[in-house]
Order: sequence, then structure tokens, then C-alpha cells
Amino acid sequence: MNRLSRLVKLSNVRVTTSLLMTTALMITTPHVITSAFANERPATNVDQNATPWTEQAITQHIDQSSIAEQPNKQQLRALIKAGEQLFNARFTTLDGVGRPMSTQAIIPTKRRRPARQEFSRTAGLDANACASCHNQPFIGGAGDFSANVFVSEGFNHADFDTTDPQFSNERNTNHLFGAGLIELLAREMSTELIQQRNTALVEARETQTTIKLALQTKGVSFGELLVHADGTVDTHKIEGVDADLIIKPFSQKGVITSLRQFSINALNHHHGMQASERFGARWTGSDDFDEDNHNNEIQAGDISALVAWQASLAPPSVKQNLNADWQQAAMRGSSVFDQLSCNSCHKRSLPLKSLVFTDPGPFDAAGTLRSGEVPNAHYDLAMLDWAKQLPQDENGHWLVPLFGDLKRYVIADKKIATLANELLSQRFVERNVFQTSELWGIADTDPYGHRGDLSTLSEVITAHGGQATDARNAWLALSDNEKSDLTAFLKTLTIQQP
Ligand code: HEC
Ligand code: HEC
Repeated sequence: MNRLSRLVKLSNVRVTTSLLMTTALMITTPHVITSAFANERPATNVDQNATPWTEQAITQHIDQSSIAEQPNKQQLRALIKAGEQLFNARFTTLDGVGRPMSTQAIIPTKRRRPARQEFSRTAGLDANACASCHNQPFIGGAGDFSANVFVSEGFNHADFDTTDPQFSNERNTNHLFGAGLIELLAREMSTELIQQRNTALVEARETQTTIKLALQTKGVSFGELLVHADGTVDTHKIEGVDADLIIKPFSQKGVITSLRQFSINALNHHHGMQASERFGARWTGSDDFDEDNHNNEIQAGDISALVAWQASLAPPSVKQNLNADWQQAAMRGSSVFDQLSCNSCHKRSLPLKSLVFTDPGPFDAAGTLRSGEVPNAHYDLAMLDWAKQLPQDENGHWLVPLFGDLKRYVIADKKIATLANELLSQRFVERNVFQTSELWGIADTDPYGHRGDLSTLSEVITAHGGQATDARNAWLALSDNEKSDLTAFLKTLTIQQP
């Protein structure tokens, strides 16, 4: 079996673990233009001097090796700026838009025959730029129902030309503000859970007993592990996280590990722009996997810039200057939120030890640039203006006010079935299981629910079933005034800066 057919074969099994075992090689970027972050020149700028009328969105790639390992504020700003340009870029065929012979699948997968048409709302290409969907209330934000995506991991080899839920899961666009903090929290949580398992393994061997380990990190419980003396681990009582104990904070399902991984998936799916670090010669044997006569469409440095921009987006904030009525209602609503135990899942904040965002990150699988494959870059988010607003606890940990817990729950059942609208499981996560939505920014991200088919907060709260049934019933039992107070509170969680 050659490498390509092996990769395609792998699409039927669990990708992350299988690819992980493949040997790690250095990525070589054959054609790169050096950029100069040191003097704050944006690296992906259209060459205005030469051909200002160019129809290319990317005229200059970013050289991964030009990214400083510890960029100062100016260098980081330049990289962020380049990432913002890429996020806004409406890619064209001159950049390599389209994937005549590659499907939307996350693992490089060949089509059986060339696509009949390049653009289609169902299997993609479904948009021209990242910002086409992530723009509410401004770039980096959420999306309208019209920007929904049809996510299909079950039909890797074929295009589907229907919105029938048998073929894909329809998802609404969520916002990216504070995404760097979310990924940092997930990394620290994964590290702690893995440490707990490893410690228990040593103890079980030394004491020759079975150890029942209660997995817990940052005050969030992830169920139990049974660790046996012979080194085997029974994972079936784990809750809300995969058996590898790696928290996957992205996608509403909670199945994507990092901004880097997500960006590579999205570039291929939405735009037919292939990142070399996954679709390039190293894994597929070709620099033009999608056979559109464009080699190395997106290079490692380009992805790094996209990641730097997303990771540095300011977190949502709390609306100020409310009139007296709203302020009082919101204060009452804030207590109602706790009384109903909404905060058992939508935790007001989680503590973060460090604001240093390392890229590549520690937990990516093969097919996403990984730690050790290139020199790591460390972005100290504390340099950014918004970081000064983040409160710290008595231990000096930053309190990230996400209103979430990065854990997955059963959120729908037969009786309360509004959110049970998906028919396909994703990466072995059941159809009715979703990760707690982070509620920061909720005032500006309607419509609600993973499909974006609920227009009011009241509807989405009422739609909570499964493990959230008690909280939902308590909400239904509130008086109209109390419901209004809770809404007043949620409507203060804004993306707009004060
Ligand atoms: C056609 C609309 C669309 C386009 C274009 C798009 N996205 Fe998204 N994005 C979505 C949707 C929908 C989700 C939620 C997916 C899910 O829950 O499975 C999402 C989720 C994300 C997330 C995860 C956020 C979270 O908190 O879970 C990231 C990161 C992201 N997109 C980055 C990008 C990047 C980078 C691009 C451009 C390369 C891009 N997106 C282009 C619709 C889009
Ligand atoms: C058992 C955990 C849990 C509890 C308790 C819970 N939620 Fe949720 N919440 C979730 C999950 C999971 C989702 C994602 C649902 C989906 O698939 O769209 C969610 C989604 C939401 C959303 C929609 C977010 C969006 O962007 O569309 C709102 C608003 C919300 N919850 C508010 C509340 C309120 C208010 C309460 C208390 C009455 C509450 N939740 C209790 C887990 C919980």
C-alpha cells in the first residue's frame, strides 16, 4: 500500500491516533519569501508596487523560520496583522482556491472523480473567506443561519448535495473571541489529567493494587479511571472527555484540539486551500494533492499567522453603562443563574496559570505541525492590551470568564429533543452530546443552539435536556420577572468592547 492509499484508508478509522504513530519528519517549505517581522512589516501584503490590480489574495507567504521564538510586542503585532489579512482574504483560483480532486475530509482524501462544480453550500467550497462566516458583530465573530456549515465526517469519499441530516450535521458559526485563552485552558487541563493518570499508574504498580482515580482539573470533574497494577486502564467511567484525556475545546461538539488543527481543516473544507503541513508531500507524496496545479497553497508560516491572530483576539467582556433598570435586573439575573445551577456547566471562570501561547501546541496529532518539528514560538498574551483587564486570583492565576467548562454533556433526549436534531455521531461522540457552550459574548451571537435555529435565549434554555434537564425545569418554573432578569444578565455578556 503506498502512503496515499494508506492515508485514505485511515479515514475509516480514528485519525488522530493512527496518524500519530507515523514517523515524524521535518517539513520543508520549498518556496518561501522571507518576511521581516522585526521591522513590523506585514508579511502577506499584496505587492502594491508591482501589480496593485493583482487578483491574488496571497502574494507573499510567511516563512515559518522568520517567526521569532519569543517575539516582542511589535513582532507579535506584525504576525497578528498578517493573520488578520489571511482571515479576511477572499481566496481566488490564483491562490489555489478549489479542490478538484480532494474532498472536504479532514484527512487528505481523493475524490473518485473531479467535482462537477467547485462551490456548493453542502460539501463545499461554501465561502470565500473565513470572515464570510465569522463576522458578527465584527470579524472573528459568530455567524447567521445563512453561514451554517454542513459538517460530514461520515462521507469522506463522496460529495453530498443535500442538506438532509442523514449526510451531515448542520452547525452554526461560533465566535472566536478569547480563543487563545480557551486553548490555553484546555492544554493545562489535559496536562493535569494526563499527570493524574500517570501518577496513578506508578502507584498501582508499586502497591500492586487497582486504583480508582477521580479525574478532576480546575474544579471540573471528568469521571473516573480504574488503573490496574499491570498498567492497564479502564476508561469506561470517564465523562465528558475522550479516553486520551485530551480536552478538545473547539467545535461545538468538542472534538478539535487546537486553532492550528481547526484552521487547516477549515481552509480545505471551506476554501479548497491546502496546508502543506497536512496535504503536502510529507503525508500525501504530492505538493498538489487536490490537483489544481497550485503547489503548497498554504504554508506553515501562513497557518502560524492565522493562529496568532485567532489566539490573540480579545475575550468578550461585560457590558457597562447599563441604565438603572437593566443593571438591577442583571444583578438579580446573575443570582438566578447560580440558583438554577446553570453555573455547574457554564462555570463563570476557570483559572489559567500562564498566558504564554506556544505554537505549535503540545497535543496535536500528525497532519498538524507539532511541537518539536519546528522551533516553538511563544506568544506572551500578557503583552496585549486586553490582558490587563483579566482578573487574577490569590494564586496569581488569570481568571478566564468563559462561562463554560470545556466538558461534553448529554444535552438532549427523547422527551426534550430540540437539540437532538443530528443523526451522525462525530469522532465517536454520540449524537446528543455537545460541549458546554461558552456563554461569554452570548449577547451578540444569536441565533442560538448548535444549528442556529433558535432565535431567543428563552428557546435555547428551554431546549436543554439530558443532563441539563433539572436546570431547564427550574428555568421553566421561574416567574416571568425572574426569566426576564436572567435574560437581562445574559444580555450583558457582550463581544463589544466597553
Ligand atoms: C461557511 C462558514 C465558515 C467559514 C468560511 C469558516 N468557518 Fe470557522 N466555523 C464555522 C462553523 C459553523 C463553526 C462551528 C463548527 C462546529 O461546531 O462543528 C466554526 C468554528 C470555527 C472554530 C472553532 C471555534 C470554537 O470555539 O469551537 C475555529 C477556530 C474556526 N471556525 C476558524 C475558522 C478559520 C480559520 C476559517 C478560515 C480558514 C473559518 N473558520 C472559516 C463556520 C465557518
Ligand atoms: C449539564 C450542563 C448544562 C447546564 C446545567 C446548563 N447548560 Fe446551557 N448549555 C450546555 C450545553 C452542552 C450547550 C450546547 C447546546 C447545543 O448543542 O447547542 C448549552 C447551551 C446554552 C446556551 C446557548 C449557547 C449558544 O451559543 O447557542 C445558552 C444561552 C445556555 N446554555 C444557557 C444556560 C442556562 C441559562 C442554564 C441554566 C438554566 C444552562 N444553560 C444550564 C450545557 C449546560
